[in-house]
Formats: sequence, structure tokens, C-alpha cells
Amino acid sequence: MEKAQAYIRIHELREILNEANRLYYVENSPTLSDYEFDMLLKELDGLEKEYPEYISADSPTRRVGSDLKKEFEQYPHRYPMLSLGNTYDISEVQLFADRASKGIGNSFTYSCELKFDGTAICLTYRNGKLFRALTRGDGSVGDDVTRNVRQISNIPQSLTLPAGFIPTSDIPAPWPQEFEIRGEIYMPWAAFDRLNDERIEEEEQPFANPRNAASGSLKLIDSRMVANRGLECTLYHMLGENLPFSTHDQALKAAEDWGLPVSDKRRICRDIEEIEDFINHWDIERKNLPYATDGIVIKVNELPYQEELGYTSKFPRWAVAYKFKAEQALTKLISIDYQVGRTGAVTPVANLEPVQLSGTVVKRASLHNADQMEQLDIRIGDYVYVEKGGEIIPKITGVELSQRTADATLPRFPEFCPDCGTALIKDEEEAKSFCPNQTGCPTQIKGRLVHFLSRKAMNVIAGDATVEQLFNKALVWNVADFYDLKTEHLLMLDGWKDRSAGRFIKSLQESRKVEFDRVLYALGIRYVGEATARSIARHFGNIDAVMDASVEDLLTVDDVGQVIAESVHDFFTEESNREIVSRLKAAGLKFDMGETPQKLSDGLEGKTIVISGNFSISRDEMKALIAAHGGKNSGSISGKTAFLLAGEKAGPEKLKKADSLGIRVLSEEEFMDIIGGSGEAESADSENGIHTSKGVQLSLF
Ligand code: IVH
Repeated sequence: MEKAQAYIRIHELREILNEANRLYYVENSPTLSDYEFDMLLKELDGLEKEYPEYISADSPTRRVGSDLKKEFEQYPHRYPMLSLGNTYDISEVQLFADRASKGIGNSFTYSCELKFDGTAICLTYRNGKLFRALTRGDGSVGDDVTRNVRQISNIPQSLTLPAGFIPTSDIPAPWPQEFEIRGEIYMPWAAFDRLNDERIEEEEQPFANPRNAASGSLKLIDSRMVANRGLECTLYHMLGENLPFSTHDQALKAAEDWGLPVSDKRRICRDIEEIEDFINHWDIERKNLPYATDGIVIKVNELPYQEELGYTSKFPRWAVAYKFKAEQALTKLISIDYQVGRTGAVTPVANLEPVQLSGTVVKRASLHNADQMEQLDIRIGDYVYVEKGGEIIPKITGVELSQRTADATLPRFPEFCPDCGTALIKDEEEAKSFCPNQTGCPTQIKGRLVHFLSRKAMNVIAGDATVEQLFNKALVWNVADFYDLKTEHLLMLDGWKDRSAGRFIKSLQESRKVEFDRVLYALGIRYVGEATARSIARHFGNIDAVMDASVEDLLTVDDVGQVIAESVHDFFTEESNREIVSRLKAAGLKFDMGETPQKLSDGLEGKTIVISGNFSISRDEMKALIAAHGGKNSGSISGKTAFLLAGEKAGPEKLKKADSLGIRVLSEEEFMDIIGGSGEAESADSENGIHTSKGVQLSLF
């Protein structure tokens, strides 16, 4: 490759890999398989080696992907949190072993362990108590998810003394005063299936695999929701100053003795043959495990040798991962269906000649979108490779061109909605085609009606068949029509009697008590799931404020990014949606959070404020206080930020950013002074002229 071409390709690869990292770690919706990612990374690494003048410290070959989210406080890692080098072949494991021997001789052993497919976590225990939990973040700072981690049942809040240990004043406990232990938070298959069943029932996008479900759940803003997700933890790497162990295995055994969850599916191996046996054993047996694994981790067991081998900027030299190959099956593509979902997205789904794959018979597989079909260059009648790799719906990963016959036909992605015939529009960013006929496309209408009644929304007892009948008999067209239904209408439905009609009407009546956040969720605004609806409802307090909110206003809500903000704004710009809301209001549904926050002053009017750290009141209370004084809360610092309100342990990243943009940092005390002492503005103090909040404000801004 010529130098100029190499330069272009290097930049192209970095862009693809950085975006893939973002989708994997932040959005939890990967677009590349691990294998595809690793192959592109390998290509980039090769080019950077050939053209060292183009090496850059922020290349994905030198940096781990980042999972940092603006909603969490961030703390630096005491020891960098790195990734592992991947191998796909035993000969590459042999190369790792050879490199290790070259550095440390031959008298060492390996600890072989399962590679759990979840999301990395770093726990700090101080004086035997769980002190902090950080995600990997970008490897040097992590998101503080301690509150969420406390909801995971097999992570002890306090360590337990091993049997037979007698505390003395010299040695009060067997564990060091402070240590870190790292591991993986994962979602067992049973919990994953349950969660996805619920999501499908609610017409929410199911998680593609347990890894995404685990990392999505760990980053939920509402920690109460984490408790119900069935997450578990396994720990595999202890770190600290002067730890009293000479091997990794001893450290893990001690951790187990102190009550920490450590996997027993590990083995000390002496040579490559034993490693290979371990790999082969688990490549089969992993299918019987209750959780997902994606490989084996091979670590040098002796800690002094680990230290001697050290680290690169991205990986330890004393460990490597062997990745299992995803199971594949080859089968014939019979036809492609184009399915319209509740939000109007049209998804191509392949009908396959039934084939056995990882214990189940596969008949259908996802083709994602038109771009994917084009990339695969797929034809009806082709033999295609199908992979499961944790996804609920298997996907087509390739075409066996050698088996293509002359009568194979090129599929054509429809230009018109297969349901209502409206011309489809393509959302370039999502590479998806949508039917824009939200108010007239039967599938979308019925989907919205079903969603509105569903358990987590209005919780009205009715199945899809009821909605189908109500729609077909033109009794219900939009969600507000439900509340106009009378018993005589319901008696028109096949098989309905007074009792069933009465039950339905009663259930509708009950739904009037459903809280505002769930009503907002029930409206079925694209991208607004349960948690987002709750954040929006809490932030604005009532539907009028939500309907009048600009995209900018919406962006200040926890959990809301550009895509969601635009979606909510677009939804309420639509006159027909406003009309539905006003009919639902008239029907008596709850459209506010109950107590309207009292307006205390307009001292912070027009000011956007970012808070970070802990205060003498909760963060939510602090946000409410800002709002009560007319200020806007924002999660991230920008040129528009009026000031950063920094409490105890404020995030170092935020402080750095404020400093670099010259944004003023206020302490809680200074802030309270500005708004008028206790926060009960227009209080005795301000009336007595001790604090004239506006006066102080003038000097500040
Ligand atoms: S040891 C310095 N052991 O795999 C890195 N990692 O792809 C030490 N993982 O970042 C990591 N199971 O999140 C280790 N038994 C195991 C593991 C494991 C899963 C994860 C971990 C790591 C990633 C690399």
C-alpha cells in the first residue's frame, strides 16, 4: 500500500473503530461482532507498525474503549483498568506462552479461567466494607456506580471473617485495610430471557445479548430498578499495596474466604497442552452454564512474574484471552419478510430452511436493514451462514458464494410500507427505513394502542386480540378513544359478555390512577422507555411543561440525549398528539406529579448550572432547589454553563473541564449564599436585607 493510501486507511479504520467502541460501550448496541472488530484492529495495528510516523497515542490500538456517561460522577482508577489481548487460535496462545517464557524463564504456571461476557467492574473495599464501585470508563477514570452495585445480591457490603480466624488487636481482620478487586457484572441467561420477554411484551427494544443487558442495567439512573434485573458478579483480579500473596490463585482463594464471589471454574495449568485441554473442555461445556462466556483467560499465576512482564498501554503482558468461535450453521434463504414495528421501522427478516444451531432450531434470522443486505450481497435462494452468539434473533453473517445458483434472485427492499403503502423514508443515521404514516398505518396504530394498555404503561387488562377487534370495528383509532368506550360498544366484540365488558371498563377506570411518568411512557413516544419517561416527568413536573419544552430544555434532563430530546419535541409539535393529550386530560388521567414544586425566586433565571459531587442535601433535592429558583440543570459543562456547583468529591473531569473553559466553580456554601441562605428564598434573611439574592447574583454573572 502506498504511503498516502495507508494514511487514509489508518484514519478510516480509527474512525470506524472509535465509533464501534462508542456503540459497544456507551450505547450498548454493537454493530460489529468481536471478531470483525478484532480483524479491523489487527489491520490498523499492522499499518501503524509499517508506518510508525502515523502512530498516535489516542489510536484505538493504544486505548481501551470508553463507557463513561455524563450522568455519573467519575473517579480516577488507582491502577489503570486495561483490556486483554485477544487470540482466536491455540497457536496464538502458544506465541503468548513463548513471549512470557522469554521474559521469565520456564518455572511458572498459568491460571486458566472462564472469560465472563459482561461488563468490567472495580470494587474497592475499605476496612472490610464496600467503599466504591467504578466501571472501567476510559481505563484511567471510571463512572461511580456504587449505588447500583449495592443492589447486586452476591456482592457483599461487608466482608465475612473466615472460619477459625480470631481477630486480635494486632491483626483485627485478615484483609488489607484497603484493596481493589476487579471482576465482571453479568446477567445470567434466565434473568436475560425474563427481562427481554418483558421488554418484548412492552414493545421495547430487547437487549441483543446478556452483555449489553448487564452494562445497560448497571448504568440505570434509578438504582431501585437495578435490583430487579438479576445481575450477578464474579471477581477475578485483586490489586493493592503490599498484598500478602505470592500467586494470583492464592489471592482469589483468600477473596473467596472473605465472602467475595469467585468462580470455581478455573485451573492451574503447567503447559500449553493443559491449557488446550481446558479450552476444549469449556468450549463444549460452556453451553451448559447458566451465564454467557466468550472465551478463556490465561494468566501467569505467580505475582512477581506478572510484575516482571508488566503492561503495554492497553494490555497486561502476563495475560491473554482466547476467544471462542461463535457457532455457525449453513442453511438456505427461502424468502424475506419486511416487518413494520410500532414505531414504523421496517425490518427485513429472513425465512430460512430450518437448521439446528446451539441447541435450537432456527427458522428466522434478522437482516437488520437495507445496508446490511447490500453489504452481504444476499440473494433469495443463497446458502447463508447463521450465528447466534447471544442474540435473541440469530443473524445472517455471510453468504456461501460457492453454492449460489443461477436462479438466485436479488431481493428488493420495499419503497412503500408493506402495511399501508406509504412511501418509506430512510433514516441515514440509523440506516433504517421508516413508514412516516404514524397516524394512518394500521400496524403502527395497533402497536401504539397495545403499548398504551400494557402492564408497565396503563395496565389495562386486554390482549392484542381485543385491540385488533376494537380497531377493526373502528371503535378505537387512537389511545384517547379507549376512554369513550361504553359497555354497548364492547358487547359488539366477538365473545364479549357483560362480565368481560364490565371488567374492561373497570380496568380503564383504575388506569386513571396511574402516575404521570407511566402515562407519559404510555403515550409511546419514540425512544422514551420507562426510565426516560420517569426522568422527564420528574424533571418537568407536568405535561404542559413537557409539551412546551424546547430541545435545549429537554437536553438538561438526566438520561436524555439529542435523539430523545428531538423525538419528544417532535411528538408534541404534532397537533394530533396535543389533541390526544387534551382528550386524555379531560378523561381524568394524571398529567402531573402531584405536588408542583414551589417557585422560590427567579434569582437563577436563564442560568444553566451543572452540579457534581455530594451535598448536605441529596442531588435530586439540589436540582429541585436550582429549578425552584428559576435555574436550569444540565449534566454536562459547555460554554453556556453559568457555573459548576461542586460538592464534596466533585468529579475531577468536570472540574478540569470547568477550568479549561474558564467556568466559575461554586461551593455549596457560596451557592446557598447566592440563593438566599437556606434555600427557602424570600426568607427572613433576604427580607431583612442580609442577603439580597439578586444583588449577589449581579456581582456574580
Ligand atoms: S483479567 C488487566 N479475567 O474481559 C486485565 N478479565 O476482553 C485483567 N474478563 O477487561 C482482566 N472474564 O472485563 C480477566 N476471568 C477473567 C475475565 C476477564 C472476563 C473481561 C474483563 C476484561 C475483558 C477483556
